[in-house]
Amino acid sequence: MSKITAIIGNKGGTGKTTVSHMVCHGLGLLNKFSVSLLTDIHRDKVSKLGRNYLPFDARTEDGLEAAIKKLRLASDTWFGVIDGGGNRPEMDQRLAEVSDVVLLPFRDSHEDIRTVIRDLERFPNAFALPSQWPTNPWELKAANQMVHDLMKDHHDRILEPVFRLSAAKLLLQEEIPTHLPAQLNTACRQLALQIMMLLDMGLDNSNWKPLEIKLTPPSKQKKAS
Ligand SMILES: Nc1ncnc2c1ncn2[C@@H]1O[C@H](COP(=O)(O)OP(=O)(O)OP(=O)(O)O)[C@@H](O)[C@H]1O
Ligand SMILES: [Mg+2]
Repeated sequence: MSKITAIIGNKGGTGKTTVSHMVCHGLGLLNKFSVSLLTDIHRDKVSKLGRNYLPFDARTEDGLEAAIKKLRLASDTWFGVIDGGGNRPEMDQRLAEVSDVVLLPFRDSHEDIRTVIRDLERFPNAFALPSQWPTNPWELKAANQMVHDLMKDHHDRILEPVFRLSAAKLLLQEEIPTHLPAQLNTACRQLALQIMMLLDMGLDNSNWKPLEIKLTPPSKQKKAS
């Protein structure tokens, strides 16, 4: 049976669609098969051309049901990644119920953090994913401090951030370029690995260790290594 990840959350513009394509692209780079399920009626379909994963239009009730059924019957070499849509609490509930893991992207604002805390409390299989995270060291320090202070009770459910990366928008194009920037590929691979780790270990695994939010932006990490 394939594993399903839902990228949801009540707040709009947090990066759900971008993260869903990043996960699929990263899985493709790791030689895994994945289907990206579009459920947001306000978004257009994207083409399979140039992609190392399969986009699927699940914007209708029947489309979504059929896709989930098919994924459940598929072998465990397949991954399903659902792109939710903002302000759809009932739909989010449904998507969380059919998924093995839920990701809740959030940006570095009090409003996003308030929303993500509410969503973490609603969905027991959910993890908060810092999204569009700042790379400027001062901004980054402030963002991490904010998370540290405001999400005290949820530190063990916060994933490594997806940093702000202008190339991320390339993944949302109808057709994507054959060669994508190395920094984007690295970010996608890291994100996909995090998800695979969460899916493999299951949510009750006592070996789970919360990931510490890195204080170093990706450019500095590269120079340091
Ligand atoms: N890691 C990132 N780096 C830079 N820009 C990003 C990143 N993630 C998302 N963005 C940008 O932020 C905007 C919102 O992203 P996206 O459409 O993925 O959010 P969303 O949560 O799916 O929105 P909605 O609630 O409308 O569905 C887009 O312009 C996107 O290009
Ligand atoms: Mg979206």
